Amino acid sequence: MIPLSVPWLKGREWEYVKECLDTNWVSYLGPFVDRFEKSLAEASGADYAVAVASGTAALHIALMMSGVGPGDEVVMPALTFVAPANAVRYCGAWPVFTDVRMRDWQWDVEQVAGFLDTGCEMKKSGLINRATGRRIAALLPVHLMGGMCDVDAVAALANRYDLPVVEDAAECLGARWKDRGIGSPTAARRRIVTTSFNGNKIITTGGGGAILTSSREVHDRARHLTTTAKTGTLEFVHDEVGYNYRLTNVAAAIGCAQLEALDEYVGVKRALADFYRERLRDTGLVLHPEPEHCRSIFWLFSALAATGSRPLIERLNQRGVMARPFWAPMHQLPMFREAMVCGSEAADRIYECGFSIPSSVGLTPADRSRVAEEVRAAAGGMAFE
Ligand SMILES: Cc1ncc(COP(=O)(O)O)c(C=O)c1O
Repeated sequence: MIPLSVPWLKGREWEYVKECLDTNWVSYLGPFVDRFEKSLAEASGADYAVAVASGTAALHIALMMSGVGPGDEVVMPALTFVAPANAVRYCGAWPVFTDVRMRDWQWDVEQVAGFLDTGCEMKKSGLINRATGRRIAALLPVHLMGGMCDVDAVAALANRYDLPVVEDAAECLGARWKDRGIGSPTAARRRIVTTSFNGNKIITTGGGGAILTSSREVHDRARHLTTTAKTGTLEFVHDEVGYNYRLTNVAAAIGCAQLEALDEYVGVKRALADFYRERLRDTGLVLHPEPEHCRSIFWLFSALAATGSRPLIERLNQRGVMARPFWAPMHQLPMFREAMVCGSEAADRIYECGFSIPSSVGLTPADRSRVAEEVRAAAGGMAFE
């Protein structure tokens, strides 16, 4: 079976992990954590990075720090991996789901603007959703499949309504928006970016995530909250309910080695996307789009099949080529049935028709040719309407 996306650990991972074991620095905090945070900030264009246990933990803390609390609402795309919607619920808030764009599969910020302009009203207590009476506490764009949504439009909208932005960049570390990294500031006045290093991401720490920011204050508070809110080095005194969310030194050691290869991996992913686009161009499939102004990393190369992707996915898996559908849109999941849905037509369609194919950095030329041939054969006769 050719896997969908597996790590490529061919750099200095062994050497760095050995150093952790040799020096007894295996747990939370340590020299590799510091180094990883510094390198990550540099690589992403942020001023600061706080390394944490997972992308989900990063989202939880970022939403809390943005003031999202019980009974609030957070506007986010219906099409996403479940983690950001879960993180909203961890805060006691509810997601409001809006659609993505058919043309590039990214968040439809215009639709969000329509909802805020006409579906909400500004009151003393903040921006209130007319339908639910709840306060809109934040915008949560999720950048999908290695591309990015229009972060300038998000920033303008957030500033218009004085809303904080928590940007989920789990799938696009290494991508560029108008030639700037995911952590580079936008015009948004309050913005925190999160990312993930779980095993299927472009670089991995085994499991891990990070909070990226240009604010010293946000950095300090994120560090505090993720380190059980401990106030001093000696005494066990904590000044609020904190979280044990820090990344371990061993994980960060792997991350340091992985980060050294990030640019190379982005190049490999983009070359793989070029290859698939060339080989699959006359199949009738809609191939993974690259959003305007964005240099995508094509995290998992994906496509849409007109009549639905499930027969094709089944056939590819039977033939030893791992293929996976997109995530079920959030409003279709039982725990979010009560959440408001402002639009989901494209999300539903992409779920029905979308599939991802092997995209590992270490995919051999022979394997990628085989994947392309199998997809061509499986797609035979399927035209997209
Ligand atoms: C869009 C998105 N957000 C958040 C996450 C969560 O990251 P983690 O698995 O590190 O918690 C992922 C992937 O896992 C993701 O794809």
